Amino acid sequence: MSGALAGRRIVISAGPTFEDIDPARFLGNRSSGKMGFAIAGEAARRGAEVVLVAGPVHLSTPDGVRRVNVRSAAQMHQAVMDAMPCDVYIGAAAVADFTPRAALDRKLKKQPGQDVLLLELVKTRDILAEVAALAQRPDLVVGFAAETNDVAAYARGKLERKGLDMICANQVGLPGCGFESDDNALLVIDAAGDRPLGPATKSALAGQLLDLIGQRLHGAEA
Ligand code: PMT
Repeated sequence: MSGALAGRRIVISAGPTFEDIDPARFLGNRSSGKMGFAIAGEAARRGAEVVLVAGPVHLSTPDGVRRVNVRSAAQMHQAVMDAMPCDVYIGAAAVADFTPRAALDRKLKKQPGQDVLLLELVKTRDILAEVAALAQRPDLVVGFAAETNDVAAYARGKLERKGLDMICANQVGLPGCGFESDDNALLVIDAAGDRPLGPATKSALAGQLLDLIGQRLHGAEA
């Protein structure tokens, strides 16, 4: 198979992470995994060797993709690091920024008269920033930014702080884009400038994003 992605090793994270509080409860988010799975499927169709590190989602594995299932941010971190080195890393997962300090082994019971519960949360490791700082760094590290407001400005901040090559900003909190929806719209930001993609289906956007990634890889070799 020919094309810029043929034979490249691409690691993609997708879906939410669930951070357990006790055996009955967890902290999660609304990511369905659709965006990351669409990218994984399209990359495999283009001949890439794809490892998809998937949080807890109800989606079938795209053809030709090696899937590693995880639950928590810590497990996602481990699975992504185990999948290194690679040519391209794409962080489409909505990874929890904080996790309970320790998961309880028994169900948390409310006390008589208790009106407030304080949960102590500790920061998770930033998988994307750590991948971008690896000695054997991927040629391209691509992040996503899910924002409710000031989308481009926050995304640009993440691109710089995390040492990324490219970031795909998307609006969340509105119907018809972002979490759970079959459609989305992306603002792809890199050194070449800002490119809006969509609105379109997540599978169409996956193709457009992989075209840009292919051009970047090709440019780096030329
Ligand atoms: O799954 P869907 O329902 O299809 O929805 C798609 C999506 C909205 C989840 C996706 O398009 C998206 O925006 N994914 C990133 C969501 C997110 O968590 O963004 P963030 O701005 O909080 O994180 C920025 C980047 O850092 C992301 O690439 C994230 O994967 C990464 N990160 C964050 C925290 C952490 N501890 N480790 C990370 O790697």
